[in-house]
Amino acid sequence: MTTSLFSPMTINGITFKNRIGVAPMTRMSAGDNSIPRKDVLDFLVTRAKNDAGLVYNEAIVTDYASAQGYPGQARLLNQEQVNAWKQVTHKIREYGAVSVCQAFHCGRMAYEGINPVNRVIAPSSIAPKQDNPMTGKPYPVPEEMGQSDMDDVVAGFVETAKGAMAAGFDGFELHCAHGYLLNQFLSAYSNQRTDGYGGSMENRYRFVHEVIAAVRTVIPQDRLLFVRVSNWGIADMDVSLFESKAEWQQMIQLFSQESINAISLSTYDYSAKAFGTDQNMSQITREATKLPILICGKIHDRTTADEALQGSDLVLSGKSMLLNPTWVSEVESAKKLKLYGSDEAGIAYTPTPLP
Ligand SMILES: Cc1cc2nc3c(=O)[nH]c(=O)nc-3n(C[C@H](O)[C@H](O)[C@H](O)COP(=O)(O)O)c2cc1C
Repeated sequence: MTTSLFSPMTINGITFKNRIGVAPMTRMSAGDNSIPRKDVLDFLVTRAKNDAGLVYNEAIVTDYASAQGYPGQARLLNQEQVNAWKQVTHKIREYGAVSVCQAFHCGRMAYEGINPVNRVIAPSSIAPKQDNPMTGKPYPVPEEMGQSDMDDVVAGFVETAKGAMAAGFDGFELHCAHGYLLNQFLSAYSNQRTDGYGGSMENRYRFVHEVIAAVRTVIPQDRLLFVRVSNWGIADMDVSLFESKAEWQQMIQLFSQESINAISLSTYDYSAKAFGTDQNMSQITREATKLPILICGKIHDRTTADEALQGSDLVLSGKSMLLNPTWVSEVESAKKLKLYGSDEAGIAYTPTPLP
């Protein structure tokens, strides 16, 4: 049976009115209080009002020490920040959508001065090969994380999860994608540790397991815990972060043993064949898990959304949701719609309010 984009779905007792969501999008609008600009928060509410079934916020930085990778990122660690997001989740719920808060530690994707205490930490002392487009300079070589760094990072995710729950989010997502810290542990491209956190896939997975286990203790059983994964990173974009379909599926099987509720797959293109096979990422992932799958990457009209849903349970859009406020209803009416490019998405980082 083919699932319809506009049929509801329930995960862990939480019902999504349709299978279309706003992908997590960092807007770099926050001031010193680490709270996004009002129009950036309003944007999320408008998407809920305009029929999105799921609304992610932006990647929330998990501490004041080493987690921040971009200027103007938000945090959810104090009461003022919780209060700001509470109003957003309340309105999203009023419009019948589900809200999920994504949490992020950038790891080696930081640069001098971006974090208040100026530390750059990662599983191994290896910088990305390419220069940082934000600074035009090489990324700094990170410090290899010791046990106390790992404990601090776990605490940052836990405190942020508590903040997200206090702010009324229906769910919490660990950003394990795009070459940021948790992804850096998972991939042998950035993790060359020789202790119990490096080497085999099981070892590289160990730190992520510890984060999931700690975070789950502060997320009530009736709320959602998701992970976002990808085979690519923002830096050194063309590198396949996992070496084969077998290695990817081994990782997905490890995630599937956790107390999580869905796996969100981030791709450049949902339909692209992966790991030299004739299957796309959702087909490869589906073979390895029974968990619900969210898929994102170049889904921009009814045809692509219907097709992407064949291998998944819910589709996410970044750029179409960003740039077209009535995208969901236009998908429903099967209107001819354009595929937006990254240049057009640059408006997300400007002070221009989005409709
Ligand atoms: C402005 C902007 C900010 C983004 N910020 C995040 C982020 O904070 N976390 C994340 O996981 N992905 C982020 N992404 C990636 C999107 O979630 C999505 O995976 C990507 O845009 C591809 O989907 P699309 O083809 O529908 O745009 C961002 C994308 C854009 C355009």
